Amino acid sequence: MYICVCKAVTDKQIKQAINNGACSRREIYHCTGAGDVCGKCTRHIRQILDENPVQHLIMQAA
Ligand code: FES
Repeated sequence: MYICVCKAVTDKQIKQAINNGACSRREIYHCTGAGDVCGKCTRHIRQILDENPVQHLIMQAA
């Protein structure tokens, strides 16, 4: 499903950016381009960010 119509960015692309470490709307913009034209998608991007928190890996010393 398209989240950002202006830049033709889908929810799948946004989730992929999150999986690659994007943790803010600004980082989503840098990864996908979503949100820099009309801004109507901003609320949806924030919602996807809230629903898909970045999984930080904690390396424990052995
Ligand atoms: S819908 Fe995303 S910038 Fe317009």
